[in-house]
Amino acid sequence: MPSKRTEELERRLARVDGESMRRHVEGFPEYLSDAARLSERVPDPSGKSGIAVAGMGGSGIGAEIMRALCSTELDLPVVPVHDCKPPRFVDGDYLFVSVSYSGDTGETISAHRRAVARGCDTLAVTSGGRLGGEEWDHLVEVPRGIPPRAALPYLLAPLLGLANRLGADLDVEDAASRLENPREPATETALGIHGSIPVIYGYGALAPAAYRWKCQLNENSGSSAFWNYFPELNHNEVEGWSDDGMSCVVLRSTDDEMERRVDAALEAVVPAEVVHEHEFGDGLPGVLSAIHLGDWVSLYLAGLKGVDPTPVNDIEKVKGLLS
Ligand code: PA5
Repeated sequence: MPSKRTEELERRLARVDGESMRRHVEGFPEYLSDAARLSERVPDPSGKSGIAVAGMGGSGIGAEIMRALCSTELDLPVVPVHDCKPPRFVDGDYLFVSVSYSGDTGETISAHRRAVARGCDTLAVTSGGRLGGEEWDHLVEVPRGIPPRAALPYLLAPLLGLANRLGADLDVEDAASRLENPREPATETALGIHGSIPVIYGYGALAPAAYRWKCQLNENSGSSAFWNYFPELNHNEVEGWSDDGMSCVVLRSTDDEMERRVDAALEAVVPAEVVHEHEFGDGLPGVLSAIHLGDWVSLYLAGLKGVDPTPVNDIEKVKGLLS
């Protein structure tokens, strides 16, 4: 049974959630299970010198998750590209993956064309659009009609499939089956950060989850939000920490070396009353649990602020100016 506070947040969300972003967030475990089939449809990258993964926003986060997880699983580099130009070292020996949910994102198309010109083996992951009509060597089509950020399971599964072909063990279905309903902790955190500017911190494989929280708070709840990762932030951001209107969400996993560093930063500069901590397991299940919780927090915050979580009018405005 949901608590009274969660029921109240659900009521507030229902008032603003015209296109039902809630349906997608609640469906995250099912989307992951369904997306597992896409991980079988990718080419074998054995023999490549690296995998570069281009994508922006909701279509780019998968590259960061893949890089974080593969840094301990694979011997070859995974290079996220959130730019029009892939780095110079991405040459014809690379597999180049272009991820764009709509298929119409200018930066991703530019990067893709450069990869084709450099002779890379190319894989496009898209629901269609212009990218679908470009030259590519391999294509994974994802289901249409989902906001790009809610389609993360379908955009991520092919990337994990590539890693698994190289010997990683990233089981999407297993991770999906372990997800718990995070609505109560989401309620607690949404109420805790409401009215403040949240800063999300993570480390290791949870660093991209912290980044995803920030993006979901931006896009779903129309909030300013920032993120950073340990241990790097202990060498700069702690010096600028201000409790003036800020709150701090920490995504923890079991890593003794990092936990000491988190504890030190919190003790030194962050007032305990603005800290909200969550602990997750290791590897893919931990990352997906952290993301699922953050997605719910962003929805409940949208409800608290009276913001419809689906439209991204300002992103569209920027894209319109660039088209
Ligand atoms: O969440 C969003 O809508 C954005 O972050 C988009 O994902 C981003 O603008 C890129 O578009 P696309 O995912 O269609 O390539």
